[in-house]
Amino acid sequence: MEYLSSLFDIKNRVAVLTGGGGILAGEMAKGFLYAGAKVILLDINKENLDRSIKKLVDFKDNVSGITCNVLDQNNLEDVKSEILSKFNKIDILVNAAGGNMTGATIGVDQNIFDLKIDAFKKVTDLNFNGTVLPTLTFGKVMAEQQKGSIINISSMASYRAITRVVGYSAAKAAVDNFTKWMAVEMATKFGSGVRVNAIAPGFLLTDQNRALLTNEDGSLTERGKTIISITPFRRFGEPEEMVGPVLWLASDASRFVTGAIIPIDGGFSVFSGV
Ligand SMILES: NC(=O)c1ccc[n+]([C@@H]2O[C@H](COP(=O)([O-])OP(=O)(O)OC[C@H]3O[C@@H](n4cnc5c(N)ncnc54)[C@H](O)[C@@H]3O)[C@@H](O)[C@H]2O)c1
Repeated sequence: MEYLSSLFDIKNRVAVLTGGGGILAGEMAKGFLYAGAKVILLDINKENLDRSIKKLVDFKDNVSGITCNVLDQNNLEDVKSEILSKFNKIDILVNAAGGNMTGATIGVDQNIFDLKIDAFKKVTDLNFNGTVLPTLTFGKVMAEQQKGSIINISSMASYRAITRVVGYSAAKAAVDNFTKWMAVEMATKFGSGVRVNAIAPGFLLTDQNRALLTNEDGSLTERGKTIISITPFRRFGEPEEMVGPVLWLASDASRFVTGAIIPIDGGFSVFSGV
């Protein structure tokens, strides 16, 4: 028992989560806090951040929030200094800022040639560069420490072509490639103590996709029905189902794992549909 708890021990580790005001980061933060870590949530949206912090009131001594834009390098540097002056180290980084944007989704009656290129650029920037820039900023601390775990958030949209969300999908595929590239870079230049992995959630019913998957009365849209029909578990995932895999990736229990993209998808990525 003691062996198992030391394997998964992240007590007093310092965890930074971008998109900390969001649904998934909020759940993961709760998992880290239950495990005794110190958590810093970063988000561009103060309202979201405050809401997340409020939900974690039971852990108020170990969680704090900082407003931060993951696309602003100067802002990230300032935030890094603020964190280091308080904790002197950064052990875990979860890059959870991201998501699809309404304007970047191709409408039901549209096709790729109707794509709004500005929205495409915005969604790829947030999901890809919004992962790269915090990784460079906070990952440098880990490289110096020769210890740390970076966890990126990919998506099933990078595994299979999911209609209508072309920019989001391309950006998540880029996140996968960057995860592998960075894993090799960190290991070969800074040793095996710095690991870079990703999780690839399947379909969860959250505010980002509720309108695409359900009707106003809560019943499934045609798209929602199709997704369920090609998910062997025949249901959507729950945000708290991300917590176990992330705790594993953050802890020494996964110490020989780097460059991996872990599907958390009820079997979506492996099912042929027949
Ligand atoms: N929810 C899902 O079904 C699902 C599925 C697969 C992957 N994901 C991915 O998981 C991650 C988190 O998703 P979520 O459902 O928690 O999203 P969410 O919308 O609840 O949270 C995202 C948060 O990121 C913040 N943010 C946006 N731009 C930012 C910026 N420039 N700088 C800092 N913060 C910024 C937002 O304010 C928001 O609070 C995203 O990368 C998303 O693509 C989500």
